[in-house]
Amino acid sequence: MPFIVGPRKCIGFRFAELEITIMLAMLVQRFNWSLPVGHKAEIEYSGAIRPLGGLPVYLQPLPQATLETVPG
Ligand code: HEM
Repeated sequence: MPFIVGPRKCIGFRFAELEITIMLAMLVQRFNWSLPVGHKAEIEYSGAIRPLGGLPVYLQPLPQATLETVPG
């Protein structure tokens, strides 16, 4: 996700990065993450680092008891 297009730069990028970090931390706390069987995650370097061919993931909600212990 680019924060610069042409001569202009996003002035909210620090805030956006903070939001993204918090969102990912919340998702990691609330779901069990797994790849489809047989899928091999590989990295593609094309200006930015990204997963080659996308990155399909299964998110399985963790038990409610775990959710209640997570703040927020
Ligand atoms: C993933 C989130 C975001 C992405 C990918 C993003 C991306 C960008 C990009 C590419 C530009 C330049 C646009 C242009 O050249 O016209 C821009 C400008 C801007 N962004 Fe963001 N942005 C994000 C989040 C935010 C947030 C959270 C804020 C404020 C809280 C924000 C405020 C701004 C402002 C005010 C500008 C205009 C800057 C100027 O006038 O030069 N952005 N953003």
